[in-house]
Amino acid sequence: MAREVRLSSKSLILPIFIMEGENVKLPINSLEGHFYYSPDTVFEAVDSALKYGVNKFLVFGVPTEKDEIGSQSFDENGVIQKAVGAIKERYRDEVFIITDVCMCEYTSHGHCGILDHGYVDNDKTLEYLTQIALSHAMAGADMVAPSDMMDGRVAAIRQALDKHNFINTLIMSYAVKYSSSFYGPFREAAKSAPSFGDRKSYQMDYHNKKEAIKEALLDINEGADILMVKPALSYLDIISEVSKQSNLPTAAYSVSGEYAMIKAAAKMNLIDEYGVMCESAVSIFRAGADILISYYAKEIAEAINKGD
Ligand code: PBG
Ligand code: ZN
Repeated sequence: MAREVRLSSKSLILPIFIMEGENVKLPINSLEGHFYYSPDTVFEAVDSALKYGVNKFLVFGVPTEKDEIGSQSFDENGVIQKAVGAIKERYRDEVFIITDVCMCEYTSHGHCGILDHGYVDNDKTLEYLTQIALSHAMAGADMVAPSDMMDGRVAAIRQALDKHNFINTLIMSYAVKYSSSFYGPFREAAKSAPSFGDRKSYQMDYHNKKEAIKEALLDINEGADILMVKPALSYLDIISEVSKQSNLPTAAYSVSGEYAMIKAAAKMNLIDEYGVMCESAVSIFRAGADILISYYAKEIAEAINKGD
């Protein structure tokens, strides 16, 4: 009765990985319990989540072909565009589909943008990001989530969406995204690790907190609808600060490394997986998050139903 924080399955988002091809259901080695699906099998993942009351999905594409400019990321027949079209056709507004807007899964070099002399060219990349976001909106995405961290991308995407009459397509900005070692299992799953260098020129330095507010305010001004902080567990102070200082909903992304740590420790019988999962999820909401993106979304929803 007197609990200060109560979770709802309505505020959970489940990531799903979609692979080019047909009839695919392959285990993702770095994310135990998760699978790659193809656009024709992804219904299985959606149906299973709906049973738990989870109806919001963040979809990532794993293309078979990569090139310098990530052509598959904005192709109308790309893996994400096909999958989003198929999901929205089947479930309509029963599900809420969010697409990750970035280039690293699609570029041969694995960076989140277009390269110029070995560096990511911010402004050139914006032209591509708007194309990617538009192609997702055309496929039926309810919300696009730019994760590239280029400056000015929220404004550019908002402008492009509005111009093409996608005035109701929302933007969840990865506003506060740190350059983090917690993304390891994801990069293995999405085959998106940079082939040289790192992402420190565009992702944030984890020594900084004021910079989080700067990034958040920029994205609010540029027209974001939801601000995301990522990762979550080592960044509870950031979640707290962003949720206090902004007037938008705050989403937290409990990333692949957070999930993998719990899974691995539980496997060694060192911790109680269920207990640590519940405690971690509650701590993120207690810090101030309104929305949680988690690889445990289904299991958390089940725990919420049980009253844990
Ligand atoms: C792509 C992207 C990444 C994640 C989400 N979108 C990886 C990265 O930036 O290297 C990480 C998600 C996770 O670790 O669960 N830019
Ligand atoms: Zn990226």
